[in-house]
Amino acid sequence: MTRRTARVYRGTARNLAVLAGRLRAGELVAVPTETVYGLAANALDPRACEKIFRAKGRPHHDPLIVHVHSLAQLAQVAQPNAAALKLARRFWPGPLTLVLPKQAAVPGIVTAGRPSVAVRMPSHPLFRRLLKLAGLPLAAPSANPFGYVSPTTAAHVRDGLGRKIGAILDGGAAQIGLESTIVDVRDPKRPRLLRPGAITREALERVLGRRVRLIAAKPRPGGRSRAQLAPGLLARHYSPRTPLVLHRKIADTATTDEAFVFLRRPAGARKKNIFWLDARGDLRGVARRLFGTLRALDRAGFARIHIEQPDGGGLADAINDRLRRAAARA
Ligand code: TXA
Ligand code: MG
Repeated sequence: MTRRTARVYRGTARNLAVLAGRLRAGELVAVPTETVYGLAANALDPRACEKIFRAKGRPHHDPLIVHVHSLAQLAQVAQPNAAALKLARRFWPGPLTLVLPKQAAVPGIVTAGRPSVAVRMPSHPLFRRLLKLAGLPLAAPSANPFGYVSPTTAAHVRDGLGRKIGAILDGGAAQIGLESTIVDVRDPKRPRLLRPGAITREALERVLGRRVRLIAAKPRPGGRSRAQLAPGLLARHYSPRTPLVLHRKIADTATTDEAFVFLRRPAGARKKNIFWLDARGDLRGVARRLFGTLRALDRAGFARIHIEQPDGGGLADAINDRLRRAAARA
């Protein structure tokens, strides 16, 4: 039995009202955000959230991010401290997720039974309008089958989940293209970066006035990863099916059945297996196009995808984190 494919809605006032009604009725809606597309449900309704896990094939030990429209709504789901409010005032709405003690209103399915909840206030204007109309905090992981590359367009969502969900709100291509930065600020003296993103560690440190330690899972093939410390931060994630090979610098592009992806447009080369992420190698452009490029090349049938890594620091840390996870085979 095949289900009809999801309907893609443009962000008209009427459509937003329809989608807000669906969310209030406990249905799923895929939503655009500035980072990646999310698969949203009423965060206060465990049955609605269960549908997210089913549609994605996501294991229940991997907790969800709750999206809020206002600081009042933040207080409904979490117990913010001064450090959290400092970060919220500086970076919200935007691509920053805060891990805080949860309020009792948040069901255990959202937090994988933990006493903490991850919260963010997104900046995408259509998602903000939908959050306001729904009048609910919305739990939303990335809108992709578990383990695959995150979606940055409505078409990506339809490709991966089209037969599992009914509605996708089209908000165009994601501006940032990488999932939000996640920082655990439950202990304001020891902020911990769980996932690097567009809000850089350096920017967090400037606002907090202290060091932020990175504890994100590092892919270690065959070995134990830090995923045990932070459930859901699985080493292998965001992965295309085609084997991915990382390079500090791509030197040789002779193999014709393999794809070569440069950060910037290489001089000369005009071959069908040569690609680049940003004409000038601007890291914001690289981040924006990374997942879409991996998806497109995954479909193109290359035997392997070779890709260049940017030099570390700032946004490069987030890009390298995703590249390492995408390349991990374990
Ligand atoms: O940019 C984003 O964050 C996107 C958009 C849709 O907002 N969401 C997203 O969610 O990327 P996703 O699929 O990565 O799943 C949320 C992740 C979990 O895998 C876990 O690593 C972390 O957030 N997380 C959620 N709750 C947590 C908690 N209580 N403690 C630690 N980490 C948590
Ligand atoms: Mg995800």
